[in-house]
Amino acid sequence: MIPEPLPNIRQLLAFYLEAGVDCALSDEPVNRLIEPEIAPAAASAVARETQPPQPVRGAPAIIPPRGEPPPPPDAAIASAREAARSAPSLEALRALLETFDGCALRQTATRLVFADGNPQARVMFVGEAPGRDEDIEGLPFVGRSGKLLDRMIGAIGLDRTKAYIANVIPWRPPGNRTPTPQETQICLPFIQRQIELVDPDVLVTLGNPSTQAILGTREGIMRTRGRWLDYDTGKRTIRAIATFHPAYLLRSPSYKRLSWQDLRAIAKVLAS
Ligand code: URA
Repeated sequence: MIPEPLPNIRQLLAFYLEAGVDCALSDEPVNRLIEPEIAPAAASAVARETQPPQPVRGAPAIIPPRGEPPPPPDAAIASAREAARSAPSLEALRALLETFDGCALRQTATRLVFADGNPQARVMFVGEAPGRDEDIEGLPFVGRSGKLLDRMIGAIGLDRTKAYIANVIPWRPPGNRTPTPQETQICLPFIQRQIELVDPDVLVTLGNPSTQAILGTREGIMRTRGRWLDYDTGKRTIRAIATFHPAYLLRSPSYKRLSWQDLRAIAKVLAS
């Protein structure tokens, strides 16, 4: 039998990243295979004190640094607010995000996932964060849950020429992990500005994370879904409603019945 070739460092790092391992936990790699007698924490402390850092075969640092480390969270949130406020158009906002270095997710994502659909649409849908397929294509909701979202909006006579679709977080978190509260806070001013620039008549948040971030709710999606709320852009008040995330509906199809009620409520407001 021919043995499988060993992965090279690049393939190994890509594997770690895909699995959601996106930061190194210590400055130097620790080869735990050659230090079985000492407890791991003590072992790395001893190693640090007694030896200069040694490259250890088979234990690469997890993330290759790309560019400067991101600024501290408060500074990043402040600079996100300032940058987002300064964008006069969607194109300018997208261009700002392409170079914004306040969020570390930009460094691990393949590309920015800004939005899809029609910026003139009367209805805007906002999800949580791109997944693997979105990261590859650079468009929101193109994977399995995106296909379901297309069918959901299709059921009320909409498609991507009649709706605008974006996410709170415009970069894929490694391994599809949940975005941290800090990452959400840093990205929030950009989606808020995007909503303001699109200025839809109806804003639909998909799932709990997006609903809590944008509509400021504290309860879970079971309680918040299907209720009309006001979303203040600073210029006007938009009607907003939360519904289930399509990924959740794929896992729990029995909630499609409630989501259909929400969709009908949205269609009714759009028809009025
Ligand atoms: N889930 C989201 O919240 N957004 C996407 O774009 C895809 C999946």
